[in-house]
Amino acid sequence: MTRALADRYGRVATDLRVSLTDRCNLRCSYCMPAEGLEWLPDESVLTDAEIVRLIDIGVHQLGIREVRFTGGEPLVRRGLVDIVAGTRAVSPDLEISMTTNALGLARTAHALKAAGMDRVNVSLDSVRPESFHAVTRRDRLHDVVDGLAAAAEAGLGPIKINAVLLRGLNDEEAPELLRWCLDRDYQLRFIEQMPLDAQHGWSRMEMVTADEIFASLEKEFVLTPATEPRGSAPAELFLVDGGPATVGVIASVTRPFCGDCDRVRLTADGQVRNCLFAREESDLRGALRAGATDEEIADRWVAAMTTKRPGHGIDDPTFLQPDRPMSAIGG
Ligand code: 5AD
Ligand code: SF4
Repeated sequence: MTRALADRYGRVATDLRVSLTDRCNLRCSYCMPAEGLEWLPDESVLTDAEIVRLIDIGVHQLGIREVRFTGGEPLVRRGLVDIVAGTRAVSPDLEISMTTNALGLARTAHALKAAGMDRVNVSLDSVRPESFHAVTRRDRLHDVVDGLAAAAEAGLGPIKINAVLLRGLNDEEAPELLRWCLDRDYQLRFIEQMPLDAQHGWSRMEMVTADEIFASLEKEFVLTPATEPRGSAPAELFLVDGGPATVGVIASVTRPFCGDCDRVRLTADGQVRNCLFAREESDLRGALRAGATDEEIADRWVAAMTTKRPGHGIDDPTFLQPDRPMSAIGG
């Protein structure tokens, strides 16, 4: 390795989030409007080979140690298994994971494991069919449950579950969701809702805070801070009823962890984003398709990190939501 993806505040990105598509088969209200969005045109989306080349540059020239595939929904990308295999071929030591809604995972879990994926994070906000529908606008809870079971069976663990609570929809369900996850040995983490939805419907007043989530869980469980240091992992971990099981709370808004950020993002159309909330991007696709060398692409990537801001600034009066919604950035 010759260089690192360092910013001006001493942070070094080693965790690459790669969005494989901006499309999705759910319509979670904190993410997309019911009618969906105008999708990226096909020709602007990176090919499987282009994605693997950029990952190769990230790993061999820039110190990337972990790759997480995201979307939209990565499972709707046709070449997913091949992309995972190509990524595994880049390095045997690379940590490879995926954030998914698990629809269809029952069919592909074994192939993904065989191709070299290590583990999955699954988005699941409710285990009640009616609430699941209210949040995602689709009746697909059973597919998620089957997908999770298949992932566990295929060895894609430890399986983490991400849940977002929405006031008036599923905010009373935190203990029930935790019980369900504990019974199946899935590690649950609650994420505070962030202003990333395409409809700009987020409101600070409406958001369910980490403190509220904690209070709700404590009605049924005894939570004690887990001793392991948090490091750059955004979840604050608590032992449930003395452990060993844990539950995480990701307080992105009320207790930001930007100072420890080690992430960098690549959008499905080949733009580097140095932050979820970045207002600008750096184009790697153009360079790639114009015949740039690995070194030239690495130079651009390094330069893209120098504008990374110290924090997301959600609380600043001047805060502006990014132009791209979460589904086109990738969690
Ligand atoms: N706020 C918080 N989390 C979100 N996710 C998607 N949109 C938002 C948002 N506005 C979650 C998804 C997924 C992860 C990538 O981010 O549920 O688990
Ligand atoms: Fe799809 Fe994830 Fe957005 Fe839900 S949050 S609509 S599963 S991309």
